[in-house]
Order: sequence, then structure tokens, then C-alpha cells
Amino acid sequence: MDIAGGPASQLLAGRVSEILNDNLLVSDFKKFPDGELYTRILDDFSGHDVSIIQSTVTDSDFVSLLQLIDACSDASTISVVIPYMGYARQDKRFKPGEPVSSRAVARAIKADTVYTVNIHDESILEHFDAKAINLDASPVIGKYIKSMKLKDPLIISPDDGAIGLAKNASNDLGIDYDFLEKTRLSGESVSIKPKNLAVKGRDVIILDDIISTGGTMAETITLLRKQGAHDVYTACIHPVLSNNAVLKLFKAGVKGIIATDTIDKGVSVVSAAPVIAKAIGK
Ligand code: R5P
Repeated sequence: MDIAGGPASQLLAGRVSEILNDNLLVSDFKKFPDGELYTRILDDFSGHDVSIIQSTVTDSDFVSLLQLIDACSDASTISVVIPYMGYARQDKRFKPGEPVSSRAVARAIKADTVYTVNIHDESILEHFDAKAINLDASPVIGKYIKSMKLKDPLIISPDDGAIGLAKNASNDLGIDYDFLEKTRLSGESVSIKPKNLAVKGRDVIILDDIISTGGTMAETITLLRKQGAHDVYTACIHPVLSNNAVLKLFKAGVKGIIATDTIDKGVSVVSAAPVIAKAIGK
């Protein structure tokens, strides 16, 4: 199999190809003077099975993915791995006249198989024409947490949507988990329902699928510190970290930020590559 790494997922594609000992295709990614994107796969892949790995953090990343899929039309089969899929949180029509943006994105992706990683809501998988499989990177986060030698650690999910993540990350590691209830007030602010948790003197890791503005995490860190938690860490699969999110987390008193490389950031200390390699290498 050949692995085609998109511009947003070069590190992850490299790591996956290394694990599988597969051929990594090198592409050119440039911009025309008017800002339009230019993509060209430089290595020969015709007649091969190709797996394209490209997160769609920005709209340009999405266009690059469409270009790579089209460029691969001479491949024998095309698998598309979208480690972080943008627009996944727009998974419903909240007001009349709105699109279901995640559906619009999914429908544009043509492939034999699609893989996502901890997609915001698994109902989105139904919108792909291809067979779509969601992978779970929370166990690799759990293993990393275990290796940190924390003081009586507890994994907390900031809302009921992430309970499954907390459960899977703590599974078989002997780490407890609990959850909070969140209400979103606006795009940037949330309120967390007060709840007494057994955090006094313990190191706590708040685990969510995405950290975007940091509003959810900052509120949760403040609540846990008020309840006497020792060190509070935040962990996520997808470190979107928009605008001043990192500053907000440190201002709230975070000890450290742990994330995977579905989006390649400085906090991406855990790799989702083994999870992807296991799935596509079958
Ligand atoms: C929402 O349901 C997600 O699971 C995250 O909780 C959310 O995306 C975090 O966003 P923010 O960092 O902007 O609070």
C-alpha cells in the first residue's frame, strides 16, 4: 500500500508509513498567485492501493483532500483517513435554513473506505457514500496518562458527550473516571454544573474530544481547583486550540496539556499513528 500524506497530516502520515513499512508518496503543495491551491503527487502510484491521510482543520485542508482524492483516480483502491474532520460539530440543523455542514463535507468525499478518529458524533459516518469507520485513540491517551506516574489520578469528562472517551482511556489501567454536566452558553462560553467530585489532593486529567476555544476546559479546571484537586491536566484527541485557548488554560491553572497528533501542535505528545496503522494495515 502507498500512503499519501496531505499538507495538514505530514507527521502522522510519515509515522503511519513507518509503522507499516509502506511507501510514503511525496506531493507538492503550492498556491497559485490568486490563492488557489495546487497539489501534485510526485511519486508513481498507478494501480496501487493508496491511503490518503489528511486532517481537515481549515477549508484549504479540505480542498487539498479533495485534490488528493482526485489525483488518485488511477489508484487501484482509495482509502481516506481524516484524523480530524472539520465541521463535525455542525452535525444538526440547529435553525431553519442552516445546512448540516458535516453532511455536506462527508458527501463530497469519494473513496472506497473512509476512516475518522474520534469523530465528534458517529452519526456523521452515515453521510459518507463509502464504508466509514471511526477509530478510537483514547486508549493511547490512557497509556500516556498511566506513564505519567500521577498522584492517585482521576480522569474527568467535562460533559456527558465525552464519558465514553474517559471510560475507554481509563479501561484496564486501574484509573477512576467521572463526569460533569456542561451547558453551552455561546461559541466561547459554557457553564459547568457544580458537582462534588472525589478530587481533593488527587491529580486530575480532564479529557474531551476537542479543545477549541478552551472555554470548556478553563471552566472545568477552575471548578476542580476550587474543590482541592492537586495538579490538573487537560487532555484531548484533537488540539484545535483556536485563538488564545492555550493562554486561557494556563490562566485557569492547568499543569499541562496532552493531545494527539491528529492536529500537529506543540502539545501533540501522543501519536494516533498506531491506531490508524492497525486499521488501514489490515
Ligand atoms: C463539544 O461538545 C466538544 O466535545 C468539546 O467539548 C468542545 O468542542 C470544546 O470546545 P471549547 O474548547 O471551545 O469549549
